Amino acid sequence: MTEPFDAVDVIRAKRDGGEVPEAALRWMIDAFTRGYVADAQMSAFAMAVLLNGMTRDEIRVMTDAMIASGERMSFAGLGRRTVDKHSTGGVGDKITLPLAPLVASFGVAVPQLSGRGLGHTGGTLDKLESIAGWRAAMSNDALMAQLREVGAVICAAGAGLAPADKRLYALRDVTGTVEAIPLIASSIMSKKIAEGTEALVLDVKSGSGAFMKDPERARELARTMVELGEDSGVRTTALLTDMDTPLGLAIGNANEVREAVEVLAGGGPADVVELTVTLAREMLALAGLPDADPAAALRDGRAMDTWRAMIAAQGGDPEAPMPAPRETHTVTAPRAGVVERMDALGFGVAAWRLGAGRARAEDPVAHAAGIDLHAKPGDRVAAGQPLFTLRADDASRFERALDALRDAWQVADEAPDPRPLVLGRIAA
Ligand code: URA
Repeated sequence: MTEPFDAVDVIRAKRDGGEVPEAALRWMIDAFTRGYVADAQMSAFAMAVLLNGMTRDEIRVMTDAMIASGERMSFAGLGRRTVDKHSTGGVGDKITLPLAPLVASFGVAVPQLSGRGLGHTGGTLDKLESIAGWRAAMSNDALMAQLREVGAVICAAGAGLAPADKRLYALRDVTGTVEAIPLIASSIMSKKIAEGTEALVLDVKSGSGAFMKDPERARELARTMVELGEDSGVRTTALLTDMDTPLGLAIGNANEVREAVEVLAGGGPADVVELTVTLAREMLALAGLPDADPAAALRDGRAMDTWRAMIAAQGGDPEAPMPAPRETHTVTAPRAGVVERMDALGFGVAAWRLGAGRARAEDPVAHAAGIDLHAKPGDRVAAGQPLFTLRADDASRFERALDALRDAWQVADEAPDPRPLVLGRIAA
C-alpha cells in the first residue's frame, strides 16, 4: 500500500511550530500503531510536541486517533446513566473504593476500569486484590451484567483500549517526553473515552506526592482534559486537589481497603470523607442527580450494601479478614508539640520500599505492607506518642523506608496554616 503521508514531514511541521493537518495526524498515529512509523520517528514527534505544544484541535484529533487504534466500548444498552472518575494518582488515594459503590447506590452505573500501581502511587487493583478471592479480570459480558445488577464495577482495563497509547507511553517514558500536557491529556482521555462512559469527573492532584508538582501545570492539564472530554462528547468536570500530604491515615493496600470500608460504614478520616463526598456530588450532578445527598448514603448503609455486592460479584469475600503484616515498626514523637508536616512523597516512597508498590510492571506487591499514620498535620502530640507504624513482611525493609522518611515529617511548636484539600474546580 502507498502511504499518503511521510512521517518526516509531520515531524518537521511540529518541530517548526506549525499545526499538523488532521489527516496527517490521524495517519501518523495509525501508521505508528501498524509499525510503519518507527519508534525513533514517533519519539522525535513527541519531543516536538513537548517543545511546541498542540492546539485544542490537534489534541482532539490525536486523542480520537488513539481511540480508533483499538476497541471502543459502549454502555448504550444498559438503561442507566454512566459516569466514571479518574485520579492522576497520589499517596493514600483510595477514593475510588468507597466512591464507585457510593455513586452506584443512587442507580447510576460506574464502570471503573483501572490500572495497577507503578512507583510511589498505588494502584486501585492492587488494593482490591488484598481481599481474599477478588478478581480484577473480567469479560465485557460479565462487566455489563455486573453494571446492570450491582451498578459498580472496578476491574482491569483490557489491553484492547487505545493500544496506540500503550506504545506511545512506553516511548515517552524513555525519551523525557512524559511531561508534555497534550500527550498526558490525550493519553488519559483516550482510555477513558474508549471505555464508553457518558460523563467523567477528574481528580487532578498537585503537590509533592503527585505526578504534577506545580498547581499551575495541574490546572492547565485539568483544563486541557475538560476541553477534550467536552469536544469528544463526554461531559467532563475536574477538581484540583492537594497532594502535599497523604490522604487519610492508611498508605498501602490492605490497610487502604480497611480505611475505605470505614468510610462506607459512615466513619473514616475527615479528608477521605470530604473528597469522596465532593467527587460523588460532581459525578451525580453529571448523571442528572444534582440534589442527591451522598453523605446520607454513607451514613445509612446504602453505599456499604453496594460495596458488598460489588466485591462478592467479583469473587471476593467482603467479610474476610484483611492480611496483616508479619513485622511492624512504630515511630514516636521525639517531643511534645504539633505535627507540622507529613510529606506525601516521602511517605509514598517509604510505603513503596516496604513492599506496597512495585518497581517493574511484572513485580508482585505485598498486600499487608505500607504505613498507618496515627496523627496528621495540625494534630497535637505528647512526647513518645506514636506518629506512624511501618508495616512489612520482612523487617529488613524498615531501614530504607526510614531513610525515605528522614526529612518527611516534623513536630513543631506552632500548628501549620490549615490547607484546603480541594483547590479549585474546572468545568466547560
Ligand atoms: N497517566 C496516563 O495514563 N498517561 C500519562 O501520560 C500520564 C499519566
